[in-house]
Amino acid sequence: MKIGVFDSGYGGLTVLKDIIEQLPQYDYVYLGDNARTPYGTRSYEVVYGYTLQCVRRLFDMDCRIVILACNTASAKALRSIQQNDLPLIAPDRRVLGVIRPTAESIGSLTKTNTVGILGTTGTIRSQSYEIEIKKLFPRIEVVSQECPMWVPLIENNEHLTAGADYFIKKYIDSILAKNNNIDTLVLGCTHYPLIADSIARFVPEGIRIVHQGAIVAASLDDYLHRHPEQEQYCSKGSTVEFYTTEAEGKFSEHASIFWQEPLSAQTVILT
Ligand code: DGL
Repeated sequence: MKIGVFDSGYGGLTVLKDIIEQLPQYDYVYLGDNARTPYGTRSYEVVYGYTLQCVRRLFDMDCRIVILACNTASAKALRSIQQNDLPLIAPDRRVLGVIRPTAESIGSLTKTNTVGILGTTGTIRSQSYEIEIKKLFPRIEVVSQECPMWVPLIENNEHLTAGADYFIKKYIDSILAKNNNIDTLVLGCTHYPLIADSIARFVPEGIRIVHQGAIVAASLDDYLHRHPEQEQYCSKGSTVEFYTTEAEGKFSEHASIFWQEPLSAQTVILT
């Protein structure tokens, strides 16, 4: 059986890349819901419904474990799927998210006990990061910033322009103005690694910018070691297949921004 990686679009490819680098032996299936992206501006009900549909499809494609690489889906759909749906539709399979592993790593990163979270409107308004970080590290102060323009700029390949810089600086200035103790900024969206260099230009030296990919990969590695009853079902052929809910040609062409090498995808029709 395979390991599924789900995202609302292309962004999860940045996470899959790190997972494959750390765990190259497994077989992976990537599913991007490009036809319905962005998720970041959608309601709880809609994100939950879309995500569940995609998780079911990944189970149909023989995935034993599904990673919701999308922060918005992790924030809005993961808990309901784990608690309500999984016991009914696939009690022996697992769905994992990206917010908990990121929150777990925060404690060892901040020295000022003040962390900034950059994310989509959906992720930030769900307060999932605050809730998870506070559970683990009650003394850490969490400062949040919605960055609604960043995903559209990246999706439209306009992220390395002067126009994009305006919006990158705008949200960075805004979060830093909320609290001048922030020493750690989390890129809480799968798209943001693509503008990490631009973000770094507007962030004062000494503030650490945290990418999720390596954290999620390490967390999956740890999970598989702690759960041999799941790991034994994960086949080891070092393959990766790509699926999209959009036209396959469009996905393959645009995915190169995120994947940096040619790939070919197949379209899935969700029913
Ligand atoms: N992939 C989503 C995330 O990580 C952002 C893109 C979207 O809004 O759909 O939050």
